[in-house]
Amino acid sequence: MHFKIRPSRKEDCKEISRMIMELAVYEKMPDQVKISHEELERDGFCQNPFFECLIAEVPEEHKSKEGFTVVGYALYFYTYSTWNGRSLYLEDLYVMPEFRGHGIGKSLLSKVAEVGKEKQCVRLQLSVLNWNTPSLDFYAAKGGQDLTVAEGWHLIRFDEQNMGRLASETPKDQ
Ligand SMILES: CC(C)(COP(=O)(O)OP(=O)(O)OC[C@H]1O[C@@H](n2cnc3c(N)ncnc32)[C@H](O)[C@@H]1OP(=O)(O)O)[C@@H](O)C(=O)NCCC(=O)NCCS
Repeated sequence: MHFKIRPSRKEDCKEISRMIMELAVYEKMPDQVKISHEELERDGFCQNPFFECLIAEVPEEHKSKEGFTVVGYALYFYTYSTWNGRSLYLEDLYVMPEFRGHGIGKSLLSKVAEVGKEKQCVRLQLSVLNWNTPSLDFYAAKGGQDLTVAEGWHLIRFDEQNMGRLASETPKDQ
C-alpha cells in the first residue's frame, strides 16, 4: 500500500472534519462533536496555531470506496510538564477502516514522535477509552505505558458550562 504522511494544509480541514466524525462514531460519541471545518481552519492555521495535524494520503488509484485519498490523520499540540518540560499531546490518531493494517497508523505515530523530538519534547501523551482494546494494544506494542494502571491518574474535565461558572467566580478585585 503506497501512502505518504505530510503536514496538513488549511484546505484539508474538511477532510479532517470528516475523519473527526468517523473517529467519534467509532468511539460511540458522535453527538459530542461540535467543531466545524471553519473552526479547524481558524484554530490550526492562525499565527499561533492551537494544534498541528499530519495527514495520511494515498494515490488516486488506491482511493477509498467513497473516493477519498486522505485516509488518516494525527492531530496533536504542545503541552508542558512541570516535571519534565516540553511535551506533546496526541489528541486523535485515526486510519479509515479499509486502510488499517498497512502501517499507516504506525507511520503517523512515528512522525508525531519525530516532530516532538525535533522540538525537544521529552514525552508524548494521549488518552484511550477503556474498551478500545485494539488501540490500547497498539500503543502498548509501540512502548506506550498505561498511566491509569501504573499510577492511577484520572482524567478531569470542566465542560464549557462549569468552566464558565468558575470564571464568573473570579474575585472581583483580581
Ligand atoms: C489504531 C490505528 C490508528 C492503527 O492504525 P493501523 O494503520 O491499522 O496500524 P498499523 O497498520 O500501522 O499497525 C502498525 C503496527 O501495530 C500493530 N498493530 C495494529 N493493530 C494492533 C492491535 N490491535 N494490537 C497490537 N498491535 C497492533 C501492527 O501489527 C503493526 O505492528 P508492526 O509494526 O510490528 O508490524 C487504527 O486501527 C485506528 O484508526 N483505529 C480506530 C481509531 C482509534 O482507536 N484511534 C486511537 C485512539 S485515539
